[in-house]
Amino acid sequence: MKSFVADESIGQYIESVFPTEDAFLLDVRERARAAGLPDIHVGGADGLHLSALVRMSGARKVVEIGTLAGYSGVRIARALPSEGRLWTFEFSPEHAAVARETFRLAQVNCAEIVIGPALEKLPSIEEFGPFDLVFIDADKENYVGYLDWAYRNLRVGGSVLADNVFAWGYIAPGTQVPPERREAVEALRVFNAALAGDARWMATILPTGEGLALAVKVR
Ligand code: SAH
Ligand code: DHB
Ligand code: MG
Repeated sequence: MKSFVADESIGQYIESVFPTEDAFLLDVRERARAAGLPDIHVGGADGLHLSALVRMSGARKVVEIGTLAGYSGVRIARALPSEGRLWTFEFSPEHAAVARETFRLAQVNCAEIVIGPALEKLPSIEEFGPFDLVFIDADKENYVGYLDWAYRNLRVGGSVLADNVFAWGYIAPGTQVPPERREAVEALRVFNAALAGDARWMATILPTGEGLALAVKVR
C-alpha cells in the first residue's frame, strides 16, 4: 500500500482550482509582513479547510491558540453562525494589535483576543464553555497541554484541529532534525501519539502540507 505524502504540487493544484484567497485575505498577509510579523499564517488551502471544517461541525463557540495577524481567525469567523464566538489567544501584544485591526477591517465582531501565554490564560474563558472546537496553532511544546484543556472544555462531539503535526517535515523518526527544532518536533511526536492512543478521541491526521490533526471528543 502506497502511503500518501502531500507534496507541493498538490497544494499548488488545489490553490489553482479553488479560489482560496480573496483580496482581503491577501492584504492580511501583506499588513502582517509590513508590521514585521513572521509569515507563518495557515496557507490558502488550510484556510479553506478551517472554514469548511468549522461549518461542517456546526461549531458556534471556537477557541484558537495562536492569533498572529488574525488570518486563520477570519477564516474561522467567516464560517460561524451569526451568534458564533471566537476566543483567540496571543502571547505578543504587537501581534494582537495587528489582529485587532484585521478583525475590525473584516467586520468580524465575534472575536475576542486574549493576550498572554495561552496555557495560563485559558482558565479565564472556561465560564463560557463547553466549547465546540479548539484550533491549536502555537507553542508546539505545549500541544499536549492544550489537548488536555480541550478535552476538559469541549462538549462531547466537539473537536480539536491542530496545525503543523508533520513538524515541518521532521515528524518521522530517524529524520535529521535541526537543533533549534528538536524540542518542538519531539513534542509534536508525543502529541500525535497521545491522540492516536486515546479512546476518548476519534482522531486522524489530514495529510495537508503541514499536517492537520483532527480529533472528535467521543466520550
Ligand atoms: N493561527 C495563525 C498563526 C499563528 S502563529 C494563523 O494561521 O493566522 C503562532 C502565534 O502564536 C504567534 O503570533 C505567536 O506570537 C503566538 N504564540 C506563541 N506562543 C504562544 C503562547 N504560549 N501563548 C499564546 N500565543 C503564543
Ligand atoms: C511555525 C509555526 C507555525 O504554526 C506554522 O504554521 C509554521 C511555522 C514556526 O514556529 O516556525
Ligand atoms: Mg501553524
